[in-house]
Amino acid sequence: MAEQRTLASDEAASTTPRKAGLEGIVAATTAISNVDGQAGRLVYRGYDIHDLAHSTTFEEIAHLLWFGHLPTHTELAQLQDNLREQRRLPEGVLNILRDLPPGTAPMDALRTAVSAWGMYSNVQGKPSIEQAIALTACFPLILATFQRLRLGLEPLEPRADLGHTANYLYLLTGQEPKAEHIKALDAYLVMLADHSMNASTFTARVVASTASDLASAVVAAICALKGPLHGGAADKSYEMLMAIGNAENAEPWIRATLASGGRLMGFGHRAYKTTDPRAEELREMARHADPTEFAFARRVEELAISILEEIKPGRRLYTNVDFYSAVLLNSVGIPVDLFTPTFAVARVAGWTAHILEQAANNRLIRPLAEYTGATSLPFVPLDER
Ligand code: ACO
Repeated sequence: MAEQRTLASDEAASTTPRKAGLEGIVAATTAISNVDGQAGRLVYRGYDIHDLAHSTTFEEIAHLLWFGHLPTHTELAQLQDNLREQRRLPEGVLNILRDLPPGTAPMDALRTAVSAWGMYSNVQGKPSIEQAIALTACFPLILATFQRLRLGLEPLEPRADLGHTANYLYLLTGQEPKAEHIKALDAYLVMLADHSMNASTFTARVVASTASDLASAVVAAICALKGPLHGGAADKSYEMLMAIGNAENAEPWIRATLASGGRLMGFGHRAYKTTDPRAEELREMARHADPTEFAFARRVEELAISILEEIKPGRRLYTNVDFYSAVLLNSVGIPVDLFTPTFAVARVAGWTAHILEQAANNRLIRPLAEYTGATSLPFVPLDER
């Protein structure tokens, strides 16, 4: 029977079309968000991201993603209370953050702390909305605690009078967050909260499909987000702008990078074959947040798009979400190496919504592979090799 199954799988593998990187393959059904890469459109549960970006808060969007509808005043107040109540780290997680080796990368700290959070919070069984709320509430705490400890400062107590985003800024800096910074960061968190079947969300769904727990699925998602082809591009985009330095240097720098086979961070996308709609929103926000930095970034963007079209004709490489995220996050005072972890502060809402959706109607995700190795080698015992 096992042999028959293997043969059936092999046969299927040889007849199923293979797409490198699963490009264009539908891997799940979801009602959470949709990306129309040709039109440059992103919707969360039916609502266009352009309508949500400046008119909603992160808490409203988390409610939309988890519960399937935008909250009423009462529902929003209830969720805000729940998030506030969950703003506490188990002692064991705090101790682990205190003991991290000097120079620990923030995404490694986040991954380690979320794994420990799952253990100390005894997160087991079928994923639940309560677990999703508790973990989402803890992400800003983990990062702010890590940031203060590495600066030699004691972590601050969360403030019950501040919302999710304002509290994150306060815990990071110890200062009263400015209204315009809260608004800008909140809009960023709204726009980054979900993005259909991106690599980290797919990873989370694969883990959830094995009937593993919510914390494990989120740890796996963090691991996928960390890579520079995904969320890791946020700080790399900023480093690219710093390396270019000034507008005069932009064209030679871009040409030299592409000539040596390098990639321009913050450009290109698997799904979007036009400008990422989030990049359009972030561009406008960056324009107001930091006009000087914006003018330079805009020049780099224009040159990058035109040189990419010249050197990689027909690839349709445009600005993605990470390019102007870098300018915006810098303008609100987020340290550069916390850009990608801050992306995770937003995306944990989407990851957990997808984990819940997967768990609610689960089938194990287990694709095939096209085998390209040898098939009939004669076995040689160890002593005769
Ligand atoms: N700079 C230079 N060339 C690029 C870039 C780029 N940013 N992006 C794609 N290309 C080129 C590739 O070299 C390739 O050229 P070739 O056909 O001559 O070999 C072609 O475009 C297609 O590239 P792929 O890697 O096959 O395209 P894919 O759809 O898999 O890539 C990706 C998407 C990984 C995002 C890519 O565009 C990239 O590496 N961008 C830079 C990193 C980045 O900004 N990542 C953030 C993405 S958004 C997010 O995840 C939040």
